[in-house]
Amino acid sequence: MPTYRFRLDGCNVSVHAEAELPLLFALRHRLRLKGAQCATGCSACTVHIDGDPVRSCLLPISAAAGKTVTTRASRAERAA
Ligand code: FES
Repeated sequence: MPTYRFRLDGCNVSVHAEAELPLLFALRHRLRLKGAQCATGCSACTVHIDGDPVRSCLLPISAAAGKTVTTRASRAERAA
C-alpha cells in the first residue's frame, strides 16, 4: 500500500492508503480530522487543494499527493 504525503492546514502529513481512497475518508478516519464533514449531495466536504476548491468525497487521495490541502475550518480560522 503506497504512502501519500501532502501538506494539511500547515502541517506535513502522510497516509498509507489505497490510491482510490477518497480524500475525505483519509481526513476523517486516518488523520482523525473532526471538521471534515460528509453529507449526501452537498459540498460540506469541500477542501482547497493548492487554492482550488474540490469535493474531498470525490477526490482520490492519490490526487492530493505533494499538494497543499486546506480545510474549511482552517480557512474560517484564518478569516476570523
Ligand atoms: S460529502 Fe457532500 S459533496 Fe462530498
